Amino acid sequence: MKLGFIGTGALASAIVTGLKSAPGDHTPVLLSPRNEEIAAGLAARYPDVRVAPDNQTVLDNCDTVMLAVRPQIAHDVLAQLRFRRDHHVVSLIATLSREEVAALIAPVERVTKALPMPMVASRQGATIICPPDPAIAALFGKLGKVIEVEDAAEFDALSVATATFATYFKYLDTLHAWLKNHGVADAKARDYVAALFKALGSAPETMPDAGFTLLAEDYATRGGINEQVLRELTARGLFDAFAESLDGVHRRILGR
Ligand SMILES: NC(=O)c1ccc[n+]([C@@H]2O[C@H](COP(=O)([O-])OP(=O)(O)OC[C@H]3O[C@@H](n4cnc5c(N)ncnc54)[C@H](OP(=O)(O)O)[C@@H]3O)[C@@H](O)[C@H]2O)c1
Repeated sequence: MKLGFIGTGALASAIVTGLKSAPGDHTPVLLSPRNEEIAAGLAARYPDVRVAPDNQTVLDNCDTVMLAVRPQIAHDVLAQLRFRRDHHVVSLIATLSREEVAALIAPVERVTKALPMPMVASRQGATIICPPDPAIAALFGKLGKVIEVEDAAEFDALSVATATFATYFKYLDTLHAWLKNHGVADAKARDYVAALFKALGSAPETMPDAGFTLLAEDYATRGGINEQVLRELTARGLFDAFAESLDGVHRRILGR
């Protein structure tokens, strides 16, 4: 595989960083020259990574091309390029459907939509790809977990989950602030919260057959303090409000 990027920003940088830290990876990578600083930095760090003089040179020298420009400029950028039928194009442009991208890059036949997250830089997290594709699954498999889906509706629903990261950190921040307000030193409170939630985060993997409800019940001993917080927050509608927010994000994604 000769891998090219059209658009070298935050996400392209995360993918290249993750890929190049994967054991034994020698995939040649050709970057488009913008952003100049990010592209030059990656090329300086990794011997298999080079910067092309322009976007067309990326296409002319690669078989697999990731589209990693912002949606606002995608139409203009792609309209200026000559794609080959045998290019395999992976669109990372979150707000454009696979069909919209395919129309912009004719005559390309293999178009995959992918949704990696910035944590692929440290080879963690998961990437959604649609439709399933062995080569692209293998590529993103070097960067964490891969979830392959057949249809766009499933892809869109899964992508709603990526809207919840800031809320997760706000949850931890609320806990951290409470501990500090009750006399715990800042660093100790942070270490404690981080270590606990790291362990909780790995619980679904260590108990692969347990659903999330079962994991919650495992901690919510009847009459215990976990049950108290869960019961009180449930009664105040916190989780219903959360589900409503997910509906709102979903509507926004579908209505784009
Ligand atoms: N970041 C995320 O967490 C994330 C997650 C999922 C999907 N995505 C998708 O990934 C895509 C890229 O996001 P990003 O966060 O990486 O954005 P970004 O950091 O803004 O990167 C986009 C890059 O495109 C470059 N660019 C501008 N004009 C160009 C042109 N004519 N030809 C080639 N490159 C050009 C920009 O360079 P300059 O800086 O020189 O303008 C910039 O470096 C978006 O479509 C987004 O929907 C992002």
